[in-house]
Amino acid sequence: MRLRFNGRLKSFFHQNKWFNMEESWLNSSMSILVVDDDPGIVDILVDFLRELDYRVECASNGVEALALLAVKDFDLMLTDINMPVMGGMELIKRTKAQEKCPVIIVITAYSSVQSAVESVKFGVYDYIAKPFNLENVSNVVERALEKQFLQHENVNLKEMMALYRASESISSQFGLDQVVKVLFDSAASFTKADFMALYLDDARNGEKADFKLWQRQLFCWLPKTERYLLSFLPKKLSSAFAEKYFTNYSSKLFKVDDPLVSSIFKGLQKPAHFSSMMAFSLKERNRLVGVLILVSFNREVIFSDKLRRSFYMLVSKAAAAIENTYLYDNLQRQYVETVESFALALEAKDSYTHGHSHQVSLYASLIARHLKFTADELAALQQAAILHDIGKIGISETILNFPRKLTESEFSQVREHPCKGRDILAPISSLTTVAAVVYHHHEHWDGKGYPDGLKGQAIPLMACVVGIADAFDAMTSQRPYRAPATLEMAFAELQKEAGRQFDPDLVKLFISQKGEIERLMASRLENDTSLLRRKTDQRLASQLQLRLAREAVA
Ligand SMILES: [Fe+2]
Repeated sequence: MRLRFNGRLKSFFHQNKWFNMEESWLNSSMSILVVDDDPGIVDILVDFLRELDYRVECASNGVEALALLAVKDFDLMLTDINMPVMGGMELIKRTKAQEKCPVIIVITAYSSVQSAVESVKFGVYDYIAKPFNLENVSNVVERALEKQFLQHENVNLKEMMALYRASESISSQFGLDQVVKVLFDSAASFTKADFMALYLDDARNGEKADFKLWQRQLFCWLPKTERYLLSFLPKKLSSAFAEKYFTNYSSKLFKVDDPLVSSIFKGLQKPAHFSSMMAFSLKERNRLVGVLILVSFNREVIFSDKLRRSFYMLVSKAAAAIENTYLYDNLQRQYVETVESFALALEAKDSYTHGHSHQVSLYASLIARHLKFTADELAALQQAAILHDIGKIGISETILNFPRKLTESEFSQVREHPCKGRDILAPISSLTTVAAVVYHHHEHWDGKGYPDGLKGQAIPLMACVVGIADAFDAMTSQRPYRAPATLEMAFAELQKEAGRQFDPDLVKLFISQKGEIERLMASRLENDTSLLRRKTDQRLASQLQLRLAREAVA
């Protein structure tokens, strides 16, 4: 019967390739505790059950049985009712109160059958009356163990399914932060660890690098006096250290006195505070990409070998997901750098627009510092300022450089550049905010702008900021067909358009920083002059080379 069950479970797990645990526990014979004060009965039962390939131990009363149950796990307990020191009923009650309880069968004389029937109320599986026949004992024991086995495997299966779902969830995450969050949450619920630390390598180009502490998290309440433990965790592990201790194995359990524990928690005098510790190597294509350390402070939570092996399934998925986020981020970064290069190249072709987007970024930052932007928001605003006219790549150069007022048809083509800019940035998921600013930077506060004719607060705040910075720099820059406006003239224009083209509050914020703006304008003028000088020098050098070449030919 047992073999049939094992075979069925093995077949199930083999069909599910994610199952990566050793199977030894499926094959291990089941253990039985026989409790009776009659040595003759004990001898018969022990010999008979061992003959059936069970692992059997015995006790002569309830106290002895409890002592054995405290140090060993049994799948089944056969117990008498009437025994000295501690009888069967008391033993049953105390055993049932324990977390790991074997299935119980009562063996008793006819005189105690009433007690045996009573014991069923306390969760006893069945009873056998003395004198018993051994075939009956065999049948009852087998049925009881079958029940116990199924209960045990049901619990295992539930745990493994939860772990499997978590590992699938990790595989579907895109950002590194999300991957790490799922990894930590799963580790907390599955391993019951109190503390976790994740180190990730900083190698982006294949070279060796140190492993930086990426995240650490405490999942239990720790008194302040004990929190000094965490300060011993280093901010980084050297690549040599990581390679020495973590490259050669995938996961490992540590005893608290293992030298590696004090090597990691340098200076910690009492590693015995740790109840249990295990470490996992995150490897992808045989390259160590990270190290995960789990610690239990709880004396009742000791990490087991079985737990370590099964949790590694999730860790290996996390390693692959983390590597994928690196590759994805690299791809995105390269795309952004290419697009930024295009934007700068586009305006660099014309000495009149050279440096425009950089200047817009500086003016936009002046406004933003009064808007309580986060660091990420400020970075997005600056990137949007650099890329705001990237869509002009798709507009005819002839139209962009006409030294006269555009016709309505020509202007309608220019008005397409916000939409083209948004399309260029669309493949980069990290630039969603930037793309929205690029798309809306020509909207007007009164709703008369383009492309969507948004009005007032409906326009993204960053787009309003870039709109003012863009207009101010355009007004104060030299053009082939007009001289640059002075700061006062440009301020007057901004004030005239406040509430019409521009957000009036942002115009006020901008104008209030006159001193800073003057400094930025002066700096730009200096750069433009040196650029013009360089270009003039280049032109004169070319003319000189040409003249010398002609003279040489003559
Ligand atoms: Fe524009």
